[in-house]
Amino acid sequence: MPSLNDIRTTFLDYFKRNDHRVVDSSPLVPRNDPTLMFVNSGMVQFKNCFTGVEQRDYVRATTAQKCVRAGGKHNDLDNVGYTARHHTFFEMLGNFSFGDYFKSDAIPFAWELLTRDFDIPKDKLLVTVYESDDEAAALWKKVAGLSDDRIIRIATDDNFWRMGPTGPCGPCTEIFFDHGDKIWGGPPGSADQDGDRFIEIWNLVFMQNEQHADGSLTPLPKQSIDTGMGLERIGALLQGKHDNYDTDLMRSLIEASAHATSSDPDGPGKTHHRVIADHLRSTSFLIADGVLPSNEGRGYVLRRIMRRAMRHAHQLGAQDPVMHRLVPALVRQMGAAYPELSCAQAMIEETLRLEETRFRQTLDRGLKLLDDEVARIPEGAELPGAAAFKLYDTYGFPLDLTQDALREQGRAVDTAGFEAAMAEQKAKARASWAGSGETADATIWFDLAEAHGATEFLGYDTEAAEGQILALVATGGEIAKATKGQEVQIILNQTPFYAESGGQVGDAGVLTTASGKARITDTKKGQGLFIHLAEVLEGEIGTGQGAALTVDHGRRAAIRANHSATHLLHEALRRALGDHVAQRGSLNAPDRLRFDFSHGQAVSQAELAQVEAEVNAYIRQNSAVDTRIMTPDDARGLGAQALFGEKYGDEVRVVSMGLLDGSGKGADGRTYSLELCGGTHVGRLGEIGLFVLLGDSASSAGIRRIEALTGEGALAYLKQQLGLLSDVATLMKATPADLPVRVKALQEDRRKLENELAQLRRELAMGGNAAGPEAREIGGIKLIAQVLTGVSGKDLPGLIDEMKARIGSGAVLLIADTGGKPAVAAGVTADLTDKVSAVDLAKAAAAALGGKGGGGRPDMAQAGGMDIGGAATAIAAVEAILRGE
Ligand code: SER
Repeated sequence: MPSLNDIRTTFLDYFKRNDHRVVDSSPLVPRNDPTLMFVNSGMVQFKNCFTGVEQRDYVRATTAQKCVRAGGKHNDLDNVGYTARHHTFFEMLGNFSFGDYFKSDAIPFAWELLTRDFDIPKDKLLVTVYESDDEAAALWKKVAGLSDDRIIRIATDDNFWRMGPTGPCGPCTEIFFDHGDKIWGGPPGSADQDGDRFIEIWNLVFMQNEQHADGSLTPLPKQSIDTGMGLERIGALLQGKHDNYDTDLMRSLIEASAHATSSDPDGPGKTHHRVIADHLRSTSFLIADGVLPSNEGRGYVLRRIMRRAMRHAHQLGAQDPVMHRLVPALVRQMGAAYPELSCAQAMIEETLRLEETRFRQTLDRGLKLLDDEVARIPEGAELPGAAAFKLYDTYGFPLDLTQDALREQGRAVDTAGFEAAMAEQKAKARASWAGSGETADATIWFDLAEAHGATEFLGYDTEAAEGQILALVATGGEIAKATKGQEVQIILNQTPFYAESGGQVGDAGVLTTASGKARITDTKKGQGLFIHLAEVLEGEIGTGQGAALTVDHGRRAAIRANHSATHLLHEALRRALGDHVAQRGSLNAPDRLRFDFSHGQAVSQAELAQVEAEVNAYIRQNSAVDTRIMTPDDARGLGAQALFGEKYGDEVRVVSMGLLDGSGKGADGRTYSLELCGGTHVGRLGEIGLFVLLGDSASSAGIRRIEALTGEGALAYLKQQLGLLSDVATLMKATPADLPVRVKALQEDRRKLENELAQLRRELAMGGNAAGPEAREIGGIKLIAQVLTGVSGKDLPGLIDEMKARIGSGAVLLIADTGGKPAVAAGVTADLTDKVSAVDLAKAAAAALGGKGGGGRPDMAQAGGMDIGGAATAIAAVEAILRGE
């Protein structure tokens, strides 16, 4: 029985034998279609080849394309787990002709592969064609010998394939497999066509038109072919199964899920395992393609799928995070066909583990709230939208997770109520937001790109070049001329100015024409255009003029040094902390660099020091930085670090730096850092000069941020630090080297002086001598009563203790004459506290001083007064108490 991996290989090999280029699956995040959330069929990466906009060096291609249908128009999420053939992730096998062969080859290719290589009995197959497509019907008759009743003509859009409201399209023919009359269902086009007997296995689209936004349909420059066959479907068929989840690949994931949760793969938790197996694939591949869980856009679709799977794992009784433990099983199955999965394994595991750990913190409480809410509403009634919103907002339950949980009880959610609650919250947020003040309307860049094509970038090789001004844009639209003082955005046919991308900031510099001069303050990218943000300094500049373009060399050199240092930093971090370290964002500006990367905890001082030392060692190595253009395959073969979700064309730039001394682990055996990168870099590592790490901080959950300086910036920083040190040394009249010893000595001196000062104050308080005031006997009790100057209230308790110790047995009253409000403290030795309480003494004294209250224990109490003039009365009052009056 062929495995899914075998079937994929057989398909690709068949078309390779028939002169097709085997092309890699494109990343799941579309490179060339801003309207599409995820790639959802094989033709997406070839869209522009059909319309003739893009030319490649091949006209026949075949792919196994990763597809996700979980957001946007095609969304299978709700049904996954409950049906035999719904997936959020699937592979689409396809063969493509770009103006090369058409129907008369596409049909024989498909028939031969199915009936010969896959050995499917001919009498089990039937086809549909578009109603008016006599040519396709005749070909099926001729090539396959199908009888007329097995060539079904369909008039509806089912047999006219469109990728969307615009784009290439055409009639199609679909091949069906008949599972026999034991299964209910009718042939396509019949009333019972939704039954499971006749299953569509392959769609062959005869691309011949382009659909335009205004509804018109024009012929394509050349007739083309786009076919699509779901691997899971054909796999089930060839493995004699009816259910895609019973194929070897899906089954192994289901068993991994059963094993990890110690449950029966076919028991009551069967649906849970199916959801987990499917969602494991979509989430892992999305993460490998650079999508991270977040609360918006693609990241939120990923989060929804992840959390949906995590709830199902929870239903299986899992006590700890499960999903990350299943990744090795997935990599075993699919890592060979999709190397990006193996490369990103550590990152996928880390991302899943973090998300599940976090979600588990609210999952239980959310489910409890859901149960409570459900208990409150009548049987079968919808869950109120407000409750679903609370689950979303407070407990992190995506709406479809709540719907999925309720589905098991046959209940739905009031989605209109949910949307209303969401809209209300958004309206509040919008009301408190000031706005970003965007200027030029983005559509203008679309129009200009269409009119002029993409800007050619010359800046890898030169910092000065000539270009032609194609357009000037000011607020309000295109202008013909810009004069002194005016701010304008300039489009040229070519430029040495780097436009901000990949974390590297845009270039600045000067533009000069025969009639004027402008300062370029920044450069940005839009629709393939390099947009130069400028201010006219002299004269005027106009469209059609030739312009001399000069990049600010010092600024660019500093940016280059920072960007190259970022690559060294990335590799040093991977080596110090582990392979899970992956770039999550970066900034390469003239004055600093910033690097965000996935790592769960703070980086220690020792690790930072190691990383800094390693980067500096490679800078001193001063080896040449090598930039090569190669295919993404070759780059991966070398082990290049890449964000697989990034836009990489047929050719990628691979930047390699640093030579290993033989002890390292560079994938090509000698290079330290290898990255796919479109940025500008130093020629030799020594140009970076110096690398100083400023520190590590948390950027967001699971992401750390390192900031660092290079070259002159690093030197200036160190100089400034040394300057501070030298200022301190001058103040200390010492050399910097002596400072640690001197500062320590100073601290010790200060401690000593503080002790001495305290002692002196006590002595002073006690009448200027260590012996202190004399005690008198009052009512048979020894009393020291004294007014002290030069002490504060907080000094009194210590002095009371000291005097109590001195008299052995007796009472003490101290009044601090502070210059302001006097403070009082009284003490009674332990042997006398049952006769006299210090609290009474303090209260009586305070009253005589015009104060109120007093508190403490019988052996020690404190109070405050208002007027020191009452001191003698206070002492008399205490004496009276001792006398028992
Ligand atoms: N584009 C067609 C489909 O998605 C054939 O690949 O069915």
